[in-house]
Amino acid sequence: MSGGGGGTERYARRLLRQVQALEVPTLPNPDVAPPSRIAFARAAGFELDAWQQEAVTSTSRKLLFLCSRQSGKSTTSGLLAGYEACFTPNALILMLAPSLRQSGELFRSCLRMLQAIDPDELAVPAIVNESALRLELENGSRIIALPGSEATTRGYAAATLVIVDEAARVPDALIAAVRPTLATTNGRLVALSTPYGKRGWFYLEWTSGTGWDRSQVQAKDCPRISAEFLADELRSLGPRVFVQEYECEFFEADTAAFSTSLIERAVTSDVTPLWGRAA
Ligand SMILES: Nc1ncnc2c1ncn2[C@@H]1O[C@H](COP(=O)(O)OP(=O)(O)O)[C@@H](O)[C@H]1O
Ligand SMILES: [Mg+2]
Repeated sequence: MSGGGGGTERYARRLLRQVQALEVPTLPNPDVAPPSRIAFARAAGFELDAWQQEAVTSTSRKLLFLCSRQSGKSTTSGLLAGYEACFTPNALILMLAPSLRQSGELFRSCLRMLQAIDPDELAVPAIVNESALRLELENGSRIIALPGSEATTRGYAAATLVIVDEAARVPDALIAAVRPTLATTNGRLVALSTPYGKRGWFYLEWTSGTGWDRSQVQAKDCPRISAEFLADELRSLGPRVFVQEYECEFFEADTAAFSTSLIERAVTSDVTPLWGRAA
């Protein structure tokens, strides 16, 4: 009997040596305070612009970014996703966009940020599962890029963070499908976009929604976009598209027969009546 036990013991010791020799990734120590979001961004390779710093440190559950093309809004939301995944165990982060190509792009930029972090500089959970559209960290957190379909979106429950990229171009029905995933978690909704006409969910929330923390950035205020580039864009796009894409202006939806401002003016008393006013 003792001979058999000795064999088992030797086997157990050998196993133990093998296990100890493995490089086991270490989870961030829960007793150590997580890094600031700005330090996290720096470790991922970004010195944040002032608006980005404000956006990532906001504690609001509802964030709207109305920003020029190339101003860094997807990067900012990718950092929010990465931070949430690393420092909230079992987080579920959903990324939604008008198409799977776009949500996949946001997902990949977030993945690149996580991969860029040197674990000797900042302890973050290792990626234990990764595919083109989803990843899982060893702390149980998941980040998932959703296709632009309602059925798939409704399949998820209990998201802790939902990011809607190019939100003005996401159909209202899709936004309606994703919002209930936050109902039981008190989770965050972050919607970012360039304008796309005076219509739809994003426009309404930007202009009259309540409880949102809003960030607005025009291209001229982005340090990475040059005046020469913008002058060239203005020439090639024309003023209307330029102002929409780079100066955050909502235009009338193309289908509207009368402009909203014309209608607004028509119903105020400032408008001179066509007839009937005493001379
Ligand atoms: N704070 C920053 N520092 C350096 N590069 C940045 C910063 N923010 C964004 N970028 C870079 O600027 C480019 C545009 O950013 P992106 O987030 O894709 O813009 P948007 O989604 O607003 O069009 C990307 O190459 C991104 O890596
Ligand atoms: Mg973007």
